[in-house]
Amino acid sequence: MYNLIKKEGNMALIGMKRRDHYEVIVVCIICILFPLFSISINFVERLHNYFRVHSTPIVAEYLINFVFLYLVGLLYLTYRRWKKAEKKRQELEHVIANINPDAIIVVDPDRNITMCNPSIQRIFGHSVDAILNKKTDFLYLDRRRNPQKSREIYEVLEKEGFHIGLATGKKANGGTVPLEIITWGLSDNGGAVLLLRDIGDRIGAEKALRESLKKLQKTLNGTVTALATTGEMRDPYTAGHQRRVAQLACAIAAEMGFSEDRIEGIQVMGFLHDIGKIVVPSEILSKPSKLTDYEFNMIKAHSQAGYDILKGIEFPWPVAQGAYQHHERLNGSGYPSKLKGDDILEEAKILSVADVVEAMASHRPYRPGLGIDKALEEITKNKGILYDLDIAEACLKLFRERGFEFQ
Ligand SMILES: [Fe+2]
Repeated sequence: MYNLIKKEGNMALIGMKRRDHYEVIVVCIICILFPLFSISINFVERLHNYFRVHSTPIVAEYLINFVFLYLVGLLYLTYRRWKKAEKKRQELEHVIANINPDAIIVVDPDRNITMCNPSIQRIFGHSVDAILNKKTDFLYLDRRRNPQKSREIYEVLEKEGFHIGLATGKKANGGTVPLEIITWGLSDNGGAVLLLRDIGDRIGAEKALRESLKKLQKTLNGTVTALATTGEMRDPYTAGHQRRVAQLACAIAAEMGFSEDRIEGIQVMGFLHDIGKIVVPSEILSKPSKLTDYEFNMIKAHSQAGYDILKGIEFPWPVAQGAYQHHERLNGSGYPSKLKGDDILEEAKILSVADVVEAMASHRPYRPGLGIDKALEEITKNKGILYDLDIAEACLKLFRERGFEFQ
């Protein structure tokens, strides 16, 4: 159906045979130019006769020369404009064909490649001649062979006019190349124009970014753990408290369907929620007897102190607020700001439940551990009053149905 008719450098166009074109051009000249020429001669002759009859011969000559020169000038200007536009078009074609790093191919309705630019060589290692008239399968490993995938692509093309997808390209040397393919449907013959972009560099950059993020995450985790450990070194009786609170808080968040990122934030908040105890004298933290009101007020100051320490660090989560609010209670009976209900951060509500359960279950300087049953009894008794109902239910479910244990 198609034959190679034009080749400029590496750019190739496919279409009708060259001989067919000549025939069409000759027919056009005969059909259009000859009658136009006859009409023009006839018109000039009539004009000449008109002026010969109605005016003096000098005026007639002058007018006819003027009209003739005007027409010649108009023709010249039109030609100049056409030439300029043609030059612009050729420059644009040159840019698209030679400077664009992406491969551009045109396919007919049978998916035969009818046109392509030289970038095909850079991406696939195939010459332009090697891929012309080949099916697009010649270039891909995994696209189009899947009828379901092909149907999907055609449906999107029909609806949106273009489709963006990914594929693995086959290189001439047997290697592969990751591709992004943008397809535009051609309305006239059902074919399409495809832009094939080598995304190997982009995938490499994304991988490097992910690795760098992972390293950063490791550094952050190390810093958070170091901070938490420093705080707990002054309060050996509660050593491990923050880690265990983080463990339970994360389990509650997961049970409630929180996103991975939010759970990560809750883990950091758990690790650091008591960091403010660093400002409380260690004699008070480890006092084996009941605390006086003054001493208890000093301990209460750890929420504000934790906030002050953490507010300067730009975490992607509200870590400082978590430390500030983890002793607030749903009914406003907590400290330091007596916040109520929705004014308390959801993460802080989770921390408060995990904090109470861990603290009651574990040994304290002034009392032995009360055990997990006593802790769960407290949560059951005050769910919906001191503790958020959904969070309390999730916590109880973890211990009673999911077999959660502190590690
Ligand atoms: Fe605390």
